[in-house]
Amino acid sequence: MAGIFISFEGIDFSGKTEQARRLFETLRTAGYDAELLREPGGVEIAEAIRHILLDAKNSGMTDRAELLLYSAARAQITKEKIQPALAAGKIIVADRFVDSTTAYQGYGRQLDLDFVRRVNLFATWATLPVITFLLDIPLEVAAARLRQSGKAADRLEREDHDFHQRVQQAYLQMAQAEPARFAVIDGTPSMDAISRQINETLRRRLGLRI
Ligand SMILES: Nc1ncnc2c1ncn2[C@@H]1O[C@H](COP(=O)(O)OP(=O)(O)O)[C@@H](O)[C@H]1O
Ligand SMILES: [Mg+2]
Repeated sequence: MAGIFISFEGIDFSGKTEQARRLFETLRTAGYDAELLREPGGVEIAEAIRHILLDAKNSGMTDRAELLLYSAARAQITKEKIQPALAAGKIIVADRFVDSTTAYQGYGRQLDLDFVRRVNLFATWATLPVITFLLDIPLEVAAARLRQSGKAADRLEREDHDFHQRVQQAYLQMAQAEPARFAVIDGTPSMDAISRQINETLRRRLGLRI
């Protein structure tokens, strides 16, 4: 039996990690065999790459190295974890996947979009989520949540306002271009309200009993 691949996308502090974790718990409670994955990372080689990518010391990384490192990490988790889990009929909940590269490296870094598309296909063997939740929040809300968290900004979070604006607009454009896969969710209400909406969408679109 083929499994179900669900991903979460959105700018930093949009609530992806929180909502992916909640959905994972909900699925497990409902008796589904689910796995929660984070990107970049999720398997040992990819976690090592994650460390390089998010390290604020690596400010000299070229845009092209960044694209290839994200893609390398993704190729590893796709082959090692995602494909076997889907083949075994599991539900995969991914905190970011291939759309992050389109949004950040393609539109954010303004690398050649056609090349990015091909690298994405190469790194994933064209394995795509059946549903992608785009958590949409204004940049000011993201900035306020960053301040409130008291965390130091990582390498990507330090990018300027224009970069984040391009990424956010790209996500919305991508969702518009693929309405059958993307579900755009307003990320500003309470976490409970958002997870209710996510569960409702999964009942309606995929018939999940959650
Ligand atoms: N709907 C929400 N309302 C208020 N704060 C939220 C909401 N969702 C997430 N947060 C807070 O924002 C921060 C970032 O959430 P997180 O799930 O880590 O986002 P992401 O993984 O997209 O960066 C956390 O401190 C979290 O508690
Ligand atoms: Mg996160």
